[in-house]
Amino acid sequence: MSIADDVKKILLSEEQIKAKVAELGAKITADYAGRSPVIICILKGAALFTSDLIRHIELPVAVDFMAISSYGMETKSSGVVRILKDLDSSVEGRHVLVVEDIIDSGLTLKYLEENLRSRRPASLAICALLDKATRRKIDIKLDYCGFVIPDEFVVGYGLDYAEKYRNLPFIGVLKPEIYGG
Ligand code: IMP
Ligand code: MG
Repeated sequence: MSIADDVKKILLSEEQIKAKVAELGAKITADYAGRSPVIICILKGAALFTSDLIRHIELPVAVDFMAISSYGMETKSSGVVRILKDLDSSVEGRHVLVVEDIIDSGLTLKYLEENLRSRRPASLAICALLDKATRRKIDIKLDYCGFVIPDEFVVGYGLDYAEKYRNLPFIGVLKPEIYGG
């Protein structure tokens, strides 16, 4: 019995993810040439993506982490966002690049964006691996986006369902009987 058995279909393979992460890293390297951005990893979902992405950014980056409340055991966003762990360092005057796993309604990111802007960074950009574009409730500009995906609950490569499946090397859709959906 493996956790991969709970997956109905693989949406993005390990190879597809690898290629996209390298592409995003190269783009960020070119765009931020001559600067040393602060990469903010949004825990826990973006941990795997961030750790792979920064290895493709050929710049002197700083890395910081922020944890915010998400769905908990639910599969829908409440819109209520809480900071569980704040940044270690000030981002005032710095070029900030926020790395997120997935943008769904956009409510979490909207809150984050406003919160970070109030800290007066020199610039603020967003990089998300996945974009469930059809689910958007508010307008959000993604500066870097890996894949636009359909409206299905996905797990793997950092993304969880009830804290499980983050360690799958690919991104897949769970069998409906797993979450009773
Ligand atoms: P939003 O506020 O609706 O945009 O929700 C964003 C957050 O919800 C993400 O950072 C994820 O933690 C979580 N999330 C949204 N969709 C999924 C999914 O399909 N699988 C796992 N987590 C998800
Ligand atoms: Mg998340």
